[in-house]
Amino acid sequence: MTRRFFVNAAAATAVASGVASGANGKLAIQGGTPVRTTPFPSWPKTTAADEQAVSAVLKSGRWYRGWGKQVDKFEETYARLLGAKYCLATANGTSALITSLHGLGLQPGDEVLVPPYTFVATINAVLVHHALPVFVDTDPATFQIDARKVEAAITERTKVILPVHIGGTAADMDTLLAVGARHKLAVLEDACQAHLGEWRGRKVGTWGAAGCFSFQNSKNLNSGEGGAITTNDEDLVERCFAFHNNGRGRKVDSYHFAYTQNGANLRMTEFQAALLMTQMRPLQEQSKLREENAAHLTSLLKEIPGIEPARWYDGCTRSAYHLYMFRYRSEHFHGLSRDRFLEALKAEGIPGSGGYTPLNKEPFLKNAVQSRVYQALYPKATLDAWEERNQCPVNDKLCGEAVWFTQTMLLDTRQGMEQIAEAIRKIQASAHTLVS
Ligand SMILES: Cc1ncc(COP(=O)(O)O)c(C=O)c1O
Repeated sequence: MTRRFFVNAAAATAVASGVASGANGKLAIQGGTPVRTTPFPSWPKTTAADEQAVSAVLKSGRWYRGWGKQVDKFEETYARLLGAKYCLATANGTSALITSLHGLGLQPGDEVLVPPYTFVATINAVLVHHALPVFVDTDPATFQIDARKVEAAITERTKVILPVHIGGTAADMDTLLAVGARHKLAVLEDACQAHLGEWRGRKVGTWGAAGCFSFQNSKNLNSGEGGAITTNDEDLVERCFAFHNNGRGRKVDSYHFAYTQNGANLRMTEFQAALLMTQMRPLQEQSKLREENAAHLTSLLKEIPGIEPARWYDGCTRSAYHLYMFRYRSEHFHGLSRDRFLEALKAEGIPGSGGYTPLNKEPFLKNAVQSRVYQALYPKATLDAWEERNQCPVNDKLCGEAVWFTQTMLLDTRQGMEQIAEAIRKIQASAHTLVS
C-alpha cells in the first residue's frame, strides 16, 4: 500500500465512522492547522465560447433586442428548457418581478403575500407598484414560506401570492396553488434562485401564473445581470412584453411610436442573451454535480448533533441548490454563538454566511408603508395594524440560526464536502474552548 493510498483510506474510514481526522486538533482560529487550505471553485466559469458569443454581438453592432436576434433565441431556448410555453427576457430578476406583477394587474391599494425569508427584491417589486407586502411566516424545517399559514393572511385586498423558491428548492406548491385556486388569487413564483429546480418532476417557474428568474452574477445561470419571466399564458406574456418595452406591444415596430399601455424599459440586451446561450450549455452538468455533492454533504451533516440541513417537501423532486442551507443549534456547541461558529469555520478554510436578516422588520419598509402615498391609498387602520400583523417569530429565530454555503462550493469535489463536515465536527469537539 502506498503512503498516499493509506492516507486516503484512513481519511475515508474516519469520515465513514463519523470521526474526523484532526477532530480533536487545535482549532485554526486558535492557531491550529486549518482543515482546508485551498479555495473553493471560483465563479463564474467561462470558456472560449462565451468570449466568441459576446464578441460576435459586439462586432455586429446589434446590441439591443430590436435589432438583433439573440434575445429572441434565448427566450425560445429557455422556454423549451423549462417546458414553458412562453419566456420573456428582462434586464434582471427584479424587473421580471415588477413586470409580472404589472401583467397580473396589481394595482396600488392591493396586497401581496410574501415570505420574509428572501432577497429584498421580492418586496421592492411589490412596493414599486404601491401595493402592500404582507408577510407570511417561514417554515423552519424547509426555510420556505409556510404555506399552511397563507390562507389566514388573505383579505379582500389580496391580489397575488408570491412564494419564493428560496435556495433553489421548491416552496410547497400543492398547498399554495390550492389556496390560490380557492380564493381566485394568482400565484407568482419567485424562482430567481431556482434554475432547473423541480416540483413533482416539472420545473419550478411553470406552476403558477408565471415564474421569475434572475441571471445576476452569483446565480447558477449568469450573465452579470439578467432576468426572465416564464408562463403558459399568452395574454399575460403580451402584457408583460408591452410593459417592459415602454408600453409598445410586440406588433409595434421599433420606429413606430404607438403605445398600448404604460411601461418602462426593462429589456435584456443582446450581450446578455448571447452569454446566457453559452452559459446554459454546462448548466445541466453543473446542476447534477451540485445535487450529488449536496446529497453527500447532507448525509454527513445530518449525523452531527445540532446541524439540521433544510428539508424538502415531498413534492420537491430536484433542487437547484443555489444555496446550501442548514440550521445551527448552538445548544449542541456549548452555546457557541452562530457568528463565532462562522468565524471558526472560516478559519478552517470553509466560508459560510449567516444569510438573511428579518426583512419584515426593516426600518425602510416601515417608512415606506407610512409614506404619503400609502396613507393616501390605504385606510389608517390597515397601516397602523401592518407592523403587528407582520410579525414572523419563527423567521426571526431562523435568521439567527441559519448558515449558508454558496452554490460554487457545491461545485467542489466529494472530498471538499467531507472537509466541510470535518471542520464542523472539529469545531464542535472544541467548542467549549471558544466560549468564555
Ligand atoms: C429570491 C430573489 N428574488 C429576486 C432577486 C432579484 O434578482 P436580480 O438581482 O436579478 O434583480 C434575487 C436575486 O438577487 C433573488 O435571490
